[in-house]
Amino acid sequence: MSSCCNGGAGWPEPVVRVQAVSDTCGATIPERYVKPPSERPSLLAPAAEPVNNIPVVDLSLPDADGTARAVAEASREWGFFQVLNHGVRPELLRRARSAWRGFFKQPADVRERYANTPATYEGYGSRLGTAKGGPLDWGDYYFLHLLPPALKSHDKWPSLPPTLRETTEEYAEEVVQLCRRVMKVLSRGLGLDDGRLQAAFGGEGGEGACLRVNFYPRCPQPELTLGVASHSDPGGMTMLLVDDHVRGLQVRRAGQWITVDPVPGAFIVNIGDQIQVLSNAEYKSVEHRVTVSAVEERLSMAFFYNPRGDLPVAPMVELVAPPASPALYPAMTYDEYRANIRQRGLSGKPTQL
Ligand code: OGA
Ligand code: NI
Repeated sequence: MSSCCNGGAGWPEPVVRVQAVSDTCGATIPERYVKPPSERPSLLAPAAEPVNNIPVVDLSLPDADGTARAVAEASREWGFFQVLNHGVRPELLRRARSAWRGFFKQPADVRERYANTPATYEGYGSRLGTAKGGPLDWGDYYFLHLLPPALKSHDKWPSLPPTLRETTEEYAEEVVQLCRRVMKVLSRGLGLDDGRLQAAFGGEGGEGACLRVNFYPRCPQPELTLGVASHSDPGGMTMLLVDDHVRGLQVRRAGQWITVDPVPGAFIVNIGDQIQVLSNAEYKSVEHRVTVSAVEERLSMAFFYNPRGDLPVAPMVELVAPPASPALYPAMTYDEYRANIRQRGLSGKPTQL
């Protein structure tokens, strides 16, 4: 297939772009994308979907304790919430989405210049994990590092469209500010000083951040596959920007899959595995997945905000009081944790959590 490439660059087999599959597969998707029956989404008409949407929090309200309570409750019960009046300009949200859509619309040879490898995953990718013949998801992505500054390399970012690097830089600056703000709210919600959780991440300026932009092409058989199979996010906290009018994200809640109804202009925030560990399971890192559509393609930007890679991450001592509340997890650095996940691929939730 002409869309094959990059087979020798550390992947166990040639990488095929889902965009190319979508363009050429006709009415039937290849076997590799078909999920086992138990994992297939039941795609209901919007009217029939469970309407119990994830909580929405307005960050502009003056009652800081009330906001902390709402965020803490959502983080305990759902692991997910949407934030409104978050301070990132709507115009910048539009520009960031549009720059990245522009990348995925470049000709294949431009996109392939940035093809990634499993060594760092940085660049244009179509799979996670290196098991030969393993299942594939219906989505392509671009992954890049933003923090710490030593890991950021513009050379590894697309040079087209011409505004992309500058826009991504601006977007990252504002989203980092938002993450630092939400970290304070999460910390207060645990009954701790506003700066405590951030200190456990390595302080302001010590944290890590990376971006995964997902592109989900149209799929002729969306009932058989997923854009991203069920997983929890391995990092600290995720600030997700989705297309305003295309659904796709589903969150697991009491054994059911709840479809998130995105509030236009909001960010979807979710707790990752590292905050679950730091909070000693007070806050939950919840499984989620992405469904795809036969009629609409979808773009999402997942901004991962993480502890510094070489710090031991363990339940914060203030939250541990044996024998009633023992520490539920041993200490592990995020670098070690991530190395395990990358070998395994993203699937479900790690058993130790
Ligand atoms: C992710 C993710 C959700 C989405 O990239 O980890 O869960 O809606 N994305 O694309
Ligand atoms: Ni995720």
